[in-house]
Amino acid sequence: MTEATRPAPPAPRRDPVWRLALLMVLLLAALPFAWHSAQLGARGLFADLSERTHLFEADRPLANVTIFAHMAAGAVITVVAPVQLIGPIRRRWPGLHRAAGHAAVAGSLIAGAGGLGYIALRKTVGGPLMDLGFGLYGALLVLCAMQTLRHGRAGRVAAHRDWAIRLFVLAIGSFLYRLHYGLWYMATGGLWSAEDFTGAFDRVQIFAFYLPYLALAELWLRHRRRITAP
Ligand code: HEM
Repeated sequence: MTEATRPAPPAPRRDPVWRLALLMVLLLAALPFAWHSAQLGARGLFADLSERTHLFEADRPLANVTIFAHMAAGAVITVVAPVQLIGPIRRRWPGLHRAAGHAAVAGSLIAGAGGLGYIALRKTVGGPLMDLGFGLYGALLVLCAMQTLRHGRAGRVAAHRDWAIRLFVLAIGSFLYRLHYGLWYMATGGLWSAEDFTGAFDRVQIFAFYLPYLALAELWLRHRRRITAP
């Protein structure tokens, strides 16, 4: 085969523009919440916030550390998770992808374990159902972070990517929770929502900010596996 007839090497894979645009919009929309969470987390770790939030109790230092460390770490993963999915960044700067990936895994472990620790020590404001919903959320976050790290280190690229997508869904879940509330309050003025989180809307939201998105992610992963199967 001459130089002229040799088939061209495959073009580098490109992410569809809509996917990049969606990730950018998501990132920009989540920034104010991440900032709020980072600030509150940092302040709660170093100052007495008893006057400002029920989450701080001056005589419960361990519970305070768990909840405010989880906020600071949660802020990091809310921002880093969408960036990790931006293909051009991942491909051009693999070292940055690895470093940010380690930060995302560490952040997920702290956010998950911190949230779980707080639930065990003080329980949530919404009672047992909220304890269950948020507890499951934290446990899944920890599981997905560990699986993403494990498969990434072993070089199992496909499994690493699948778990990273699940981790992404959970990492932005906390932002989606606030987004659902914001949109709902704008549309209905807070119908079926109570201050102690016992309204019908609140009860659905306890699971609706991550389980449906995880189910959609599974469908998408299954579809991708089917179309890329040899
Ligand atoms: C993914 C990143 C996360 C971020 C950015 C985040 C952020 C926050 C923030 C800012 C608050 C204070 C309330 C507010 O100002 O809205 C909060 C409360 C809380 N978070 Fe998270 N969180 C995250 C993940 C998690 C996880 C994984 C769990 C479960 C283990 C969890 C459990 C809780 C609990 C129990 C509360 C207190 C609820 C109450 O008022 O009783 N969070 N979170």
